Amino acid sequence: MMNLTIVGTGYVGLVTGVCFAEFGYSVTCIDKDTERLEKLKSGTCPFFEPGMDKLLDKHINKTKLLSFASSIKNNSENTDIFFITVGTPTRRLEDEADLSFVWQVADEISESIKKYCLVVTKSTVPVGTTSEVKKIISNKVDQKLFDVVSNPEFLREGSAIDDFIRPDRVVIGTDNKKSENIMKELYRPLFLKETPIVATSIETSEIIKYASNSFLATKIAFINEVADLCEVVGADVQQVAHAMGIDKRIGSKFLNAGPGFGGSCFPKDVKAFASTAKKKNIDLSIINAVNKSNQDRIIKISNKISSKLKNNSTITFLGLSFKPNTDDVRDSTSMKIASNLFDQGFKVQCYDPEAMSNSKKENSNLVFFNSAYEACEGSSAIIIGTEWNEFRALNFEKISKILKEKIIFDLRNIYIPKDLKEMGYEYYGTGK
Ligand code: UDX
Repeated sequence: MMNLTIVGTGYVGLVTGVCFAEFGYSVTCIDKDTERLEKLKSGTCPFFEPGMDKLLDKHINKTKLLSFASSIKNNSENTDIFFITVGTPTRRLEDEADLSFVWQVADEISESIKKYCLVVTKSTVPVGTTSEVKKIISNKVDQKLFDVVSNPEFLREGSAIDDFIRPDRVVIGTDNKKSENIMKELYRPLFLKETPIVATSIETSEIIKYASNSFLATKIAFINEVADLCEVVGADVQQVAHAMGIDKRIGSKFLNAGPGFGGSCFPKDVKAFASTAKKKNIDLSIINAVNKSNQDRIIKISNKISSKLKNNSTITFLGLSFKPNTDDVRDSTSMKIASNLFDQGFKVQCYDPEAMSNSKKENSNLVFFNSAYEACEGSSAIIIGTEWNEFRALNFEKISKILKEKIIFDLRNIYIPKDLKEMGYEYYGTGK
């Protein structure tokens, strides 16, 4: 059985840890944050992700394949594969990824290598990072005792466990056959599901990750701009996207127009991709345009909303996480638009099924309520910022009685405009 050490218990690290335990490997997750570790040891996931609590409990208490520790040293003697899954945030005031945690972990790993092992970068890291990790470790360790690998993740928050266990593909970037074969053995449980394993060079693998995320972000920014045109000429962007998506060369996914892409990956990754290219004198002009288009969209949508409302009125904002099924508000377009509207003088009454506590930390000026209905009391407009399922079936007869004015901004196009208009609502969708 392989022994795995995963350094960093953020989103990627923890999902990777529980899923490899689910495959039957022995996994130790390392994090310096002792408060976080205590929670994890008792089986409590520090963030909301469907299915996590169940797998944590199973592998901590029943299979005992999953354990936690605060340092690499003394806890990784038998490790066959180290995974670096620490954060790579955007540097303050710059676009490039801050890799200081990666360098720190590489150095700590180098102190602990006693037998042959692999060191895998799973965090999203700019091209060249994995070979830099190799250099750092070879300062202290004989090159025969380790190999480095790039193995990017493609997990979506809200469905991360399923994405890990049933991925579209696994990408493995190595510089020799031995490490490639070990990685293939690691992912052998997926062979039964006939998952394509793409083996490439290290640099190619690093680029695949950024190119994939940037391409998906491009699709979203593209359809959002088409949506703006649709609104002006009276066309319907959902029908446009549907008909485009039937063409297999285009594909129907990631063509939902909305308030723009957010989250911990896309905004950060498009910036870092363009920034890495710039350093090599390559102008990723499309990616730069995608970034700008997405940033401008926040202001555009905030202004569209405020232009239809009376100054200083009370409004309801439903959905604050950057997408449904997560409590994550990092780079959430909903939070940005809600905050902009507050700054423009509106009283913003909010509700989100899971992200209330994170939202409060980010902007305490918003007023928080315990249900969608409470947040609608005395309000002059409803804004649907994030398409949680519970907003799809709201009781509008009930809501109509407690609203001051019946205006709705359905930024995610979850309602049928005709239905709401028949109930007397002034309806504004995105791109229709
Ligand atoms: C993304 C990638 O999908 C994943 O492969 C990668 O590993 C991490 O980044 P995630 O950030 O969890 O995953 O969310 P995703 O579902 O991709 O959505 C990102 C943002 O785009 C969200 O704000 C979402 O609302 C928005 N989006 C997505 C749209 O506006 N329209 C779409 O059609 C799809």
